[in-house]
Amino acid sequence: MKTFYITTPIYYPSGKFHIGTAYTTCLCDSIKRYKTMQGYDARMLTGTDEHGQKIEQSAHNAGKTPIDYVDYIAQIAQDLWKTLKITNDDFIRTTELRHTAVVQKIFERLLANGDVYLGKYSGAYCVEDEAFFTPTQLLPGGLCPDCGRPTKIVEEETYFLRLSKYSDRLLKYIEENPDFITPETRKNEVLAFIKSGLNDLSVSRTSFSWGIPVKSNPKHVVYVWIDALSNYITALGYGSHDDHLFQKYWINGDEVVHVIAKDILRFHAIFWPIILMALDIPIRYRLLVHGWYLMKDGKMSKSKGNVIYPEALVSRYGLDAFRYYIVKELSYGNDSVFTPEDFVARFNSDLVNDLGNLLSRSVAMVNKYFHGHVQKTEHQHELKQYERELEQIAEQTIVNYQENMDEFNVAKALGEVSRLIARTNKLIDETAPWALAKNPDLMLVLESVLYHLLEALRMASIMYTPILIDSHPLLFKALGVASEEQSLQNCHFGAKDQYDIGTDVTHLFPRLDVEKEVEYIKALMNDKPVTIAKPDKPIITIDEFNQTEIKVGKVISCEQHPNAAKLLVLQIDTGDRKRQIVSGIAEIALPITLIGKNLMVVTNLQAVKLRGILSEGMILCGEQGGKPVLLEVPSDLEPGSIIR
Ligand code: MSP
Repeated sequence: MKTFYITTPIYYPSGKFHIGTAYTTCLCDSIKRYKTMQGYDARMLTGTDEHGQKIEQSAHNAGKTPIDYVDYIAQIAQDLWKTLKITNDDFIRTTELRHTAVVQKIFERLLANGDVYLGKYSGAYCVEDEAFFTPTQLLPGGLCPDCGRPTKIVEEETYFLRLSKYSDRLLKYIEENPDFITPETRKNEVLAFIKSGLNDLSVSRTSFSWGIPVKSNPKHVVYVWIDALSNYITALGYGSHDDHLFQKYWINGDEVVHVIAKDILRFHAIFWPIILMALDIPIRYRLLVHGWYLMKDGKMSKSKGNVIYPEALVSRYGLDAFRYYIVKELSYGNDSVFTPEDFVARFNSDLVNDLGNLLSRSVAMVNKYFHGHVQKTEHQHELKQYERELEQIAEQTIVNYQENMDEFNVAKALGEVSRLIARTNKLIDETAPWALAKNPDLMLVLESVLYHLLEALRMASIMYTPILIDSHPLLFKALGVASEEQSLQNCHFGAKDQYDIGTDVTHLFPRLDVEKEVEYIKALMNDKPVTIAKPDKPIITIDEFNQTEIKVGKVISCEQHPNAAKLLVLQIDTGDRKRQIVSGIAEIALPITLIGKNLMVVTNLQAVKLRGILSEGMILCGEQGGKPVLLEVPSDLEPGSIIR
């Protein structure tokens, strides 16, 4: 089996993670899922980059020790990736012993080889970006060219990595491996930078202590980039007693991809390959460089109040709406501006009007005209021109889709599927099945049209599988597609020759009220920054806790409370019976999105009437920024399962 190893950057734990970081992570996850569908043994890594002065400062500001602070934020990251159903196989934290011990070894080895040497550095230093800048790089007034903050002159003894020694080898490597850096424009940037001459890189600090100490000279800590970049191999066990993953996915692996945004290009395209050369490790990876998600007023920043966090969007619009939007809107080479208007428009046009409508109309017609059963009819009648055209387009779509996915261009691949969906919708307009149905002589013609709709939908659902995580099983279920008919190998027109479908599908994606939802998202963008958890309530015994009965409840139906805008009225199956619960979650979820969800329900609360409606329990939620956040329970837990 061929192997595939994909990594995100390890993120700084400097606060909550916004949609930019979620973008890289969802992109990697979608690619990993696609590679798995192709039959690869695919592995994904993400994690947190926990050392450095900036984090030491953030911890101090939060009144925490650095380790308490990074523990807390690393957990936020892991929770977020769970919410986004990221299938990472490992999560590396640079404060873990499996990493720190190996980084120390790496440093000593570089020192012993003479690739690292002790010297002195004096220059303008930016704490925010943890980087020194030359006078020509600084903005007027000595400001940092990356973040615009003031820099300070720092002089310190430091170890240097001999970049200059490797620059010719690196140039040769990049030229001989044209796929090393994608897209081409980024490669050219890197080549120009190397050709302008590489200065040796400062790789240790004495001015702060929150880092990995240099073993042979512990007053120095390893400067974050040698520490950070090594994560890609320490997580595979490189340098440890068990390095079988490193052997499998890196040394003998088939494909390795590091996905990053343009901000950290030089580190990955220059420093990392040189570190690998100096360690005698083959450069196995390709670098995929994407642009940034920006806001209308520039880079996302908490101080501008223009940050948007994934959790809130997922909680209101569902996971697929979020994943679909972020991976579709940003294509390589460009930046993309997130606007609430685009988010809502994309949802309504692609998911509601095109995909959702095509599915509900097709299923309804097959049920109405053929009692849910249609089959291939081409042996009984000649295909019409419009059908041949749809078949050709569908076949071309899967070719283009795979070509783009193989080049990791998920946005373009999704564009191909959208075109197929649009063409399939057009087939309904062209053939007007409701008119064909009026003429009993045209039943074969009608059956053939409907079969074509379902085949195109089946193929689109296969191609959407790595992106529409929650909905692709619903699509397949609605179409009655068995698991072997969901594979990429069977993503061909006619691979399924008959359909037995079930009940009509109402709304896979509910239409959004544009004005209302744009307002809603705008309000989210003024969310408060993360607050560190306060000390909790008084200690209780396990017996006291056990007096609360909490069970898994599946939402059967849900509607708006007639007398209170903030309340929803839910009918919930809690195993023993159906109960009615009134809950203050209207501001975070539309009723229709809750149906079928597994939630945590307190079942032994005194029943009360809330604004005139009986409530027989309580749904448990988290709270963030003063707003409830639903706590979903895995769907394989039966309603009524005890939570304790
Ligand atoms: N810790 C370093 C990376 C070390 S990798 C060995 C770092 N961390 S970071 O938290 O600042 O994350 C940077 C990465 O987050 C970017 O390269 C990109 O993948 C993602 N993004 C952060 N903001 C982003 C946008 N606004 N838009 C798109 N991606 C963004 O740098």
